[in-house]
Amino acid sequence: MGCHCKLLLAVSVGIFAIIHIVQAQPDQQGFISLDCGLPPGESPYTDPVTGLTFSSDAEFIRSGKRGEPGDTVTYIYRQYKDLRYFPDGIRNCYNLTVNKGTNYLIRAGFSYGNYDGLNVYPKFDLHVGPNMWIAVDLDNDDDREIIYMSKSNSLQICLVKTGSTIPMISTLELRPLRNDSYTTQLGPLNLIYRRAYTGNSGGFIRYPDDVFDRKWVPYNWFETNVNTTLNVTSSNPFVVPDAVSRSGISPKNVTLPLGFYMFTNHDSDKVNVYFHFAEIQTLNANDTREFDILLDGDIIHKAYSPKVLQSETKYNISPQKCGFGSCDLDLVRTQRSNLPPLINAIEAFTVLDFPYAETNPDDVAAMKNIQESYGLNIISWQGDPCVPELLKWEDLKCSYTNKSTPPRIISLDLSSHGLKGVITHAFQNLTELQKLDLSNNSLTGEVPEFLASMKSLSIINLNWNDLTGPLPKTFHDREKSGLKLTVQGNSRICADASCKVNNNQKYVLPVVASAASVLIIIAMVILILVFKKKRPTQVDSSSTVQHVLPKSRQSIITQTKRFTYSEVAALTDNFERVLGEGGFGVVYHGSLNGTQPIAVKLLSQSSVQGYKEFKAEVELLLRVHHVNLVSLVGYCDEEGHLALLYEYAPNGDLKQHLSGERGGSPLKWSSRLKIVVETAQDIIEQIG
Ligand SMILES: *[C@@H]1O[C@H](CO)[C@@H](O)[C@H](O)[C@H]1NC(C)=O
Ligand SMILES: *[C@@H]1O[C@H](CO)[C@@H](O)[C@H](O)[C@H]1NC(C)=O
Ligand SMILES: *[C@@H]1O[C@H](CO)[C@@H](O)[C@H](O)[C@H]1NC(C)=O
Ligand SMILES: *[C@@H]1O[C@H](CO)[C@@H](O)[C@H](O)[C@H]1NC(C)=O
Ligand SMILES: *[C@@H]1O[C@H](CO)[C@@H](O)[C@H](O)[C@H]1NC(C)=O
Ligand SMILES: *[C@@H]1O[C@H](CO)[C@@H](O)[C@H](O)[C@H]1NC(C)=O
Ligand SMILES: *[C@@H]1O[C@H](CO)[C@@H](O)[C@H](O)[C@H]1NC(C)=O
Ligand SMILES: *[C@@H]1O[C@H](CO)[C@@H](O)[C@H](O)[C@H]1NC(C)=O
Ligand SMILES: *[C@@H]1O[C@H](CO)[C@@H](O)[C@H](O)[C@H]1NC(C)=O
Repeated sequence: MGCHCKLLLAVSVGIFAIIHIVQAQPDQQGFISLDCGLPPGESPYTDPVTGLTFSSDAEFIRSGKRGEPGDTVTYIYRQYKDLRYFPDGIRNCYNLTVNKGTNYLIRAGFSYGNYDGLNVYPKFDLHVGPNMWIAVDLDNDDDREIIYMSKSNSLQICLVKTGSTIPMISTLELRPLRNDSYTTQLGPLNLIYRRAYTGNSGGFIRYPDDVFDRKWVPYNWFETNVNTTLNVTSSNPFVVPDAVSRSGISPKNVTLPLGFYMFTNHDSDKVNVYFHFAEIQTLNANDTREFDILLDGDIIHKAYSPKVLQSETKYNISPQKCGFGSCDLDLVRTQRSNLPPLINAIEAFTVLDFPYAETNPDDVAAMKNIQESYGLNIISWQGDPCVPELLKWEDLKCSYTNKSTPPRIISLDLSSHGLKGVITHAFQNLTELQKLDLSNNSLTGEVPEFLASMKSLSIINLNWNDLTGPLPKTFHDREKSGLKLTVQGNSRICADASCKVNNNQKYVLPVVASAASVLIIIAMVILILVFKKKRPTQVDSSSTVQHVLPKSRQSIITQTKRFTYSEVAALTDNFERVLGEGGFGVVYHGSLNGTQPIAVKLLSQSSVQGYKEFKAEVELLLRVHHVNLVSLVGYCDEEGHLALLYEYAPNGDLKQHLSGERGGSPLKWSSRLKIVVETAQDIIEQIG
């Protein structure tokens, strides 16, 4: 497996960078390039390979520690050398300043490098603000990438501990994209696969060749390579790099379609696939290249002809669900075309659902202000204050209407927090606050009048502080309308007529009396009851219950397992129940351990010739694309029997998809698999 490991490392940390210096480098306008764990003294620096300027992450996060890979790994990119890890707290967040309404490519890089000597890749979740982005389950150094449009000018990227391993991160990169490319109206786009470009051009491409610093990984699909030295213009908003547009593939057997096969995580995943084309062959006057673009059997573009030396991008406008954990991409030549299909590059994304609104920004700003006023350093006070509810900040309570309504802060308990100084005006901006507890601190100064003018506030506990002076008149009025203020244990407060400090403020607040009378207690109970009645339940349980984190991982797989044919036969009750049937073979129902339902794709005997090295290659492929493969349970490759075992969701429309009822897939499964296997083969060859 030596070479496999090398490959994985190479692909992820880019050892195969094209090392050439481009004279006219595009500016890095709006780029945020953080080298996590870089000591601030060494920041910033210019990466010699890419020319990108990296900075330390120190000023964007308050927690975490610096780690350095223990392995003797040589990194081409310096930013993969150090990392930040988070032994404390559940959620640790980066707070970045972005432009509201701009589409950003956000890439988090992870190079574990056995920095902790445990030799266990960590598992954790990544959140963007209040929403779950992805469960990171590393088994090699890797990146995760999302295209996201921020609804505000600050962006929180959070690492969330989900188990016993400690979250870590090596790089965090943000690249603003054009607003007319990669539409995210229906949800952020999570990159599946690596961004692949075709042809035998060899190198790993990113900035400065790609002005948006997308990372393009070469894949030779073992088809016919096509390339040109001519310039390809890229007037489309995707601005595909020249190096990508100049090389492509078309099918070796010109009568066949060009097909790709792609895994998705879950049956319910919806995908957006971007196909990049340019006509880079010299055509005769009587030549026609025209083909249909199919996504899992559905035509997303009919009779397409690539433009001569001009890059063009085609994609499915509405996100599409793929059949059973996998997606077929096909380019099928039309009748009138004498030339086979041709493609430069493919990018595939799952469209994520980010349903949760961030906490009301005024509340967030006020909390930030309060935090700074008192120098509070509370580990959970990172990321969104209220969402996800399970990770909300300590010491506060929020009201939740529904997922899409920003939650409000309704209660704040800072008792016994060692607060010093006066009661800050910042509390005033928590306009929905109902309860404020500042008891048992060392607060000084007078009780500020603004507290009485906060409409929602009904309970204020200022007991056991060092407050002084008389209580403003307004408290007396508010007292009548239900405010409950207590100031016991503040020896220098004078609450009644005997207080002469300020002659026009002589008011008695019954609740202030040092001994609580029975009457007052009764009054409070009534107040509370009335209060409760007046406010309808503010927590919509249906919306909050769902948002339980850490996300339970229901996947039954921990490792892709090899099964023997007889085991497969046993698992499927001797291939008793057929789920679907297609040109490639038959899909059977089965169960693992007698409980977990699985689906078994069995390739027909005739299609398996020539796959002697199936195991090694498929394994490699699986590892390369492992992020897409949680639904794969195992495989079998015995004596001409090839089978893939998947998790089975009984309500999926498996049969439809696999039997080709929806229009049929023009490529046989075997052909797709062949492409896939040959890809793996080629990767091995490329790295020697
Ligand atoms: C994030 O940073 C912005 C800009 O520096 C700041 O206004 C905001 O309060 C910060 N948010 C949090 C939660 O720290
Ligand atoms: C995209 O950006 C351009 C200029 O940067 C602006 O004129 C245009 O209105 C924007 N379009 C959208 C849909 O935001
Ligand atoms: C371009 O294609 C030709 C023939 O197809 C091949 O010999 C050559 O190496 C290719 N060049 C590049 C840069 O891929
Ligand atoms: C391609 O573009 C570059 C820079 O834009 C230019 O210098 C070069 O002459 C062009 N090559 C061709 C063949 O047009
Ligand atoms: C090309 O594919 C067609 C259809 O599958 C097949 O009949 C033909 O033999 C193939 N040609 C070659 C050269 O493999
Ligand atoms: C197309 O034209 C070229 C010469 O321009 C000729 O050699 C070729 O046979 C023609 N092909 C067809 C299919 O007519
Ligand atoms: C959420 O609540 C708001 C305000 O009550 C309402 O306007 C909106 O339609 C609700 N949205 C959903 C999805 O229920
Ligand atoms: C008051 O606060 C101190 C720390 O500031 C704490 O030790 C003590 O237990 C608190 N007392 C009460 C009654 O909460
Ligand atoms: C309260 O919020 C307003 C705007 O929402 C802001 O201008 C003001 O400075 C804030 N006050 C405090 C004390 O933070």
